[in-house]
Amino acid sequence: MKIIRQPAEMTAWSKHRSREGQSIGFVPTMGFFHEGHLALMRMAEQQADRVVVSLFVNPSQFGPNEDLSAYPRDFERDSQMARDVGVDVLFAPESGDMYPPESKTTVTVADLTDNLCGADRPGHFTGVATVVSKLFNIVRPDLAVFGQKDFQQLAVIRRMTRDLNMGVDIIGHPIVREKDGLAMSSRNTYLDAPLRRSALSLSGAIQQVCTLAVEGERSVQRLNAAVEAFITSFPETGIDYISFINKDSLQQVTTVDRDTVVALAVKIGNRVRLIDNGFVFQD
Ligand code: PAJ
Repeated sequence: MKIIRQPAEMTAWSKHRSREGQSIGFVPTMGFFHEGHLALMRMAEQQADRVVVSLFVNPSQFGPNEDLSAYPRDFERDSQMARDVGVDVLFAPESGDMYPPESKTTVTVADLTDNLCGADRPGHFTGVATVVSKLFNIVRPDLAVFGQKDFQQLAVIRRMTRDLNMGVDIIGHPIVREKDGLAMSSRNTYLDAPLRRSALSLSGAIQQVCTLAVEGERSVQRLNAAVEAFITSFPETGIDYISFINKDSLQQVTTVDRDTVVALAVKIGNRVRLIDNGFVFQD
């Protein structure tokens, strides 16, 4: 596996592969890999001749009071894991090379970023859309794989890619979970044993919504009340949002149907914020 740090070298590598007629699959990440990241890499391998993974903790998507400096990092471990999965290139640029001081351009996707994490984290999705645009321009992939764990991020990237005619196929990968249901996340490493138990409130709440819906409940008001009671019954949980949204528009709905997704963001303890989501009808 090749490790590339310079954007220009990355583009040269990709152009070379494209000239040879090889397709390039791409998985953007912020590192500290877990099974979820590796599953995305394997999916890219199935669909493309060559796979590039980027590892860049993108400062522009973190708010001033968020965990940028504390974000877990382990380059040696990550590069070993990517190598073992069969990745061709690990692209790990320096912040100064991604954001030279003279940069003036950002990418903003309207409407889709107004609610959910967009409302809680102002500027977050502009940071994501901008860095993903830059990474697409540097890596020049044919396809890119993103996780459904970040449901709103996936919707934003799909919209941006279409709106700006980027010509990259966006593939969504289902959420990869621990055996007990917790959605895998680099941020799970912040959790001690009691907080880890409280973190199960997210996946448990989604399961509860599915059960109630299968039993016939359609009212978002009542489902919302049930979820709120469920999550707050766990110690040290603080709800950022519980949203019932249409899978495409991300607009809130008042009754649930087959296109409804329940999306959650919950603070566990005082510094860990976790997200999770799932279709209300899961068959
Ligand atoms: P990061 O949080 O490192 O996630 C990288 C990719 O892995 C994203 O597409 C995310 O949705 C996916 N992922 C994370 N946990 C997952 C899980 N449990 N199951 C399935 N997929 C999972 O998302 C980012 O980085 C950044 O915002 C990025 C897109 C790289 C832009 O900086």
